[in-house]
Amino acid sequence: MKKLAYICLALSISFFANAGGNPDLVKIPEGYKTKFTKYDTRNRLNGKQVGVLYGNDVAMSTASQGKLGDGAIIVMEVYKTNPGDDGKPVAGEDGVFEKGKFAAIAVMEKRSDWPAEYDAKERSNDWGFAIYKADGSLKENNLDCASCHTPLSEQDYLFSHSSLVEFAKNHH
Ligand code: HEC
Repeated sequence: MKKLAYICLALSISFFANAGGNPDLVKIPEGYKTKFTKYDTRNRLNGKQVGVLYGNDVAMSTASQGKLGDGAIIVMEVYKTNPGDDGKPVAGEDGVFEKGKFAAIAVMEKRSDWPAEYDAKERSNDWGFAIYKADGSLKENNLDCASCHTPLSEQDYLFSHSSLVEFAKNHH
C-alpha cells in the first residue's frame, strides 16, 4: 500500500512538473487566516500587486533567532490593485496599495525531511514552494520559485525576513 502511494506521488509530481513549486508536497495550511499571524502587508516589487504575509507559530517564535525553525510556514496572499485615474495603483496614506481582486496564494514550508522525490534544485535549502489560485485550486505556471529565493541565504531565503523579525520582536 505504501509502495502504491509512492508510485502515485511520483506520477503526480511528474504530471505537475510545470506548476510553480510542488503542490503535491506543499499544501495550503488549513485555517491559516485565523491560526497564523499576519505580520506584513506590502507592495510587491513588481509594483502591481499587494502581498499579505502570514507566519505560523514556528515561524513567529523562531524568527528572531535568525534562521527559522523546522516546520515554519509562510503564506503570501497576492492581491491585484485598483488603477487610479493616472493608471497607477491606488495607494493609502501609508503608501500601501489598496487591495483589488484576490489573485493567488503562495506558500513556503521549511522541512528538513522532504522526500527524496523533491529535487533539491527546486527548493531553497529546506524551503519547499507552491502557488495556488485564490480558491485553492492549482495554478499552473512555469515559475522557478527557487531561482529568486535561493540567493537570499543570509535572510533564510525570505524577502520579508526583516519585517518578520521586527514583528516577532514586538509581539512575542
Ligand atoms: C522573480 C522572482 C521570484 C520568483 C520566481 C518567485 N518569488 Fe516568491 N517572492 C519574490 C519577492 C520579490 C517576494 C517579496 C514580495 C514581493 O515583493 O513580491 C517574494 C515573496 C514570497 C513569499 C513570502 C515570503 C518572503 O519571501 O518574503 C512567498 C511565500 C513566496 N514568495 C513564494 C513563492 C513561490 C511559491 C514561488 C513559485 C511559484 C515564488 N515565490 C517565485 C520573488 C520571487
